[in-house]
Amino acid sequence: MKTLLKVENVKKKFGELVALENINLEVVDKECLGIIGPNGAGKTTLFNVISGYMKPTEGRVEFMGKDITGKRPSELAKLGLVRTFQLIKAFMNMSVEENFRVITDDYKEIMKDFDLWNKRDMIARNLSQGDLRKLNIGLALATNPKLLLLDEPFSGLSPRECAELHSAIDRLKEMEVTMIVIEHKLKELFNHAERVIVLNYGVLLCQGTPEEIVRDIRVIEAYLGDGYAVA
Ligand SMILES: Nc1ncnc2c1ncn2[C@@H]1O[C@H](COP(=O)(O)OP(=O)(O)OP(=O)(O)O)[C@@H](O)[C@H]1O
Ligand SMILES: [Mg+2]
Repeated sequence: MKTLLKVENVKKKFGELVALENINLEVVDKECLGIIGPNGAGKTTLFNVISGYMKPTEGRVEFMGKDITGKRPSELAKLGLVRTFQLIKAFMNMSVEENFRVITDDYKEIMKDFDLWNKRDMIARNLSQGDLRKLNIGLALATNPKLLLLDEPFSGLSPRECAELHSAIDRLKEMEVTMIVIEHKLKELFNHAERVIVLNYGVLLCQGTPEEIVRDIRVIEAYLGDGYAVA
């Protein structure tokens, strides 16, 4: 198995607050890695560091064998490392198709895969939350990434919209896109993630398969609470 991403001894401080404490992790080609943890655990900060939106206070990030620490998001996108945001980013006053055209001319297949072709003339701000999320991920996919970072893709979606997003993520897997997915909705995440890491107060608490994670008492104490059920 080929290592695509390596995070080594990454620390991120905001003043006195330690948002990430000595994080080490690896992502192998074609896997889907889940990241869970309570609010403020440092999940988005870790994405910010990996994707070049923030420089780590200490440590390094390696992508495809190259040191990418401190490189800008635009440089990383060219290398194939792309992320989506917790709050959706798109050109809200432009149509779905125009949004794609900003990135590439080769978008028709992606729009069809994500069920957006019949909505191509709709202005982005008029889309449902689910379609907007699909647009967001579709736009990231249009850059032809090797590694895609998704920050809470299922948040705010109805059950029907969640089902549509599951299909979209299945499509990404078929396309062999490697993914890291931050998600609070564990049931949705565990449909896709083969491996999960748990962050708590900036510390990597544990990692394992979804089954191992829910059984891990430390996770139950820190995050899931008593009586938690994934089913
Ligand atoms: N730009 C910033 N400046 C100062 N503090 C920050 C900044 N970004 C994040 N933090 C702090 O770092 C900690 C980790 O935040 P982060 O957004 O990474 O958490 P998270 O795990 O993504 O939480 P959530 O599940 O709520 O999205 C929090 O205490 C947060 O307040
Ligand atoms: Mg977050």
